[in-house]
Amino acid sequence: MTYIKELAQFEGQQVELKGWNAQKRDSKGLVFMTFRDGTGFCQAVINLEAVGEEAFEAVKRLPQESALAITGTVVKDERQIGGYEIQVSAVTIISVAEENFPISPKEHGVDFLMDNRHLWLRSRRQWAIMRVRNQIIFAIHSFFQERGFVQMDAPIFTGNACEGTTDLFETDFFGDPAYLSQSGQLYGEAMAMAQGLIYTFGPTFRAEKSKTRRHLSEFWMIEPEMAFYDLKMDMDVIEDFVRYVVTTVLDKSRTELQTLERDTTYLERVREPFIRMKYEDAVSVIKAEKEINGRTSLQMLAEEEAGLKEEAVTIQADIDEREAKIAGGELKKGEINFNRSKIDQLKNALKDNAEKLDSVAQWKTSALNFKRGDDFGGADETVLTKMFGQPVMVYNWPQAVKAFYMKEDDVEHGYAKGVDLLAPEGYGEVVGGGERETDAEKLKRKIKEHDLPMEAFEWYLDLRRFGNIPHAGFGLGLERMVAWICGLPHIRETIPFPRSYGRLLL
Ligand code: 4AD
Ligand code: MG
Repeated sequence: MTYIKELAQFEGQQVELKGWNAQKRDSKGLVFMTFRDGTGFCQAVINLEAVGEEAFEAVKRLPQESALAITGTVVKDERQIGGYEIQVSAVTIISVAEENFPISPKEHGVDFLMDNRHLWLRSRRQWAIMRVRNQIIFAIHSFFQERGFVQMDAPIFTGNACEGTTDLFETDFFGDPAYLSQSGQLYGEAMAMAQGLIYTFGPTFRAEKSKTRRHLSEFWMIEPEMAFYDLKMDMDVIEDFVRYVVTTVLDKSRTELQTLERDTTYLERVREPFIRMKYEDAVSVIKAEKEINGRTSLQMLAEEEAGLKEEAVTIQADIDEREAKIAGGELKKGEINFNRSKIDQLKNALKDNAEKLDSVAQWKTSALNFKRGDDFGGADETVLTKMFGQPVMVYNWPQAVKAFYMKEDDVEHGYAKGVDLLAPEGYGEVVGGGERETDAEKLKRKIKEHDLPMEAFEWYLDLRRFGNIPHAGFGLGLERMVAWICGLPHIRETIPFPRSYGRLLL
């Protein structure tokens, strides 16, 4: 048995493939099938003369998602999916699917697709996203393992609120309350004191009661923790790490990124040094008090708005033209169907365009009204990163908006040595981290200020009592990274079975 991903090695030769009928059409003695086998997609051409009447008729009737084995010759054809076509000489049907597979090749709404997530995963786009996710995970492990970091598994049931109490999932742990972990960091700090360099890679939970395109209730986080590192060294690791992961995926997942029609211009820019700026400077950029490359945030937003309006006019003109053609009555049935489905797509694009225009208006309001000292919202992150087109690290945040464990800056009192890495193209925060407070008294004060139960942190304070050292770390949200690299508008497609506010499925 051969796999689609290996077809290049078998050009001109006979192969056997096992897989599924993703889609097909027939015309006069030929069936053109989009065949998928898990490793990829290719076109299979089943010719009546080559396979005989009986097999041909069986294939012609074969519903979408039926399974089959095909034998045939590999022919290079640039125009086809994957660049190769199979000219089939024999077919064995493995299973005949029921008629009416819910996800047909036509356009479906997102809610419908989410309700059918278990089947939606088979579509080309979802296939590509999951492969990129896999490549990202592999690259993350490679990066840390090559550098001598020890992977550790932090517990999922915890007694403490590491990242604040507002979004905790509470569970019943033999009659006592326990929380699903928001972060493995505190346990990671304990392990770093034993192993020096460690990283966690596990599920984390946040009960954020909001539906956004960036938040999940259950997501995977990677949290390195490094003994004897300060904020500057932490930022250097973040930069090397993100550059390594993105460039590895650019190199290894080319087919998948092409399938997703990902424009990689901005991803390529991770090769350049990242922007590093303090919170106060970032605020000045957001509030249009400071120009970047000769323009303010408000000028950037005005340009964005003008571009979108122009795009809307072009899309509408295309719709009008196709509708006129259909109304003209000269098109064949196939051409009418083709134009109708194009019009559906264009109408969706027009809806997206209107939503984007709405967003630009919101970003503008948010930027103008931003209060110095506040945490950034999604809109603020978007505005800031759109000014640069490359990753931006914002550091030295007001202590009040950051977690209790962040170290206070030695010179700029009231500022925490925390850093967020914001991805370009509106993706926003993908990494949050910083240097840890080492002063046990300050930590105790912060634990009280944050209204956290001291008993739950006694063990953590031991790390300051015994072998106290400067240390730092960060957390990468895996799904945010997948969304950015794949260029997805929403985080829900980045994880096999997403859990988010208002949706717990399958
Ligand atoms: O910024 P956060 O809250 O930082 C921490 O949890 C630290 N303990 C990390 C550390 O220093 N070890 O979360 C880290 C990252 C965010 O930058 C974001 O990418 C992701 O986790 N994240 C989420 N991803 C999806 N859905 C959510 N609800 C997320 N909340 C955070
Ligand atoms: Mg954060």
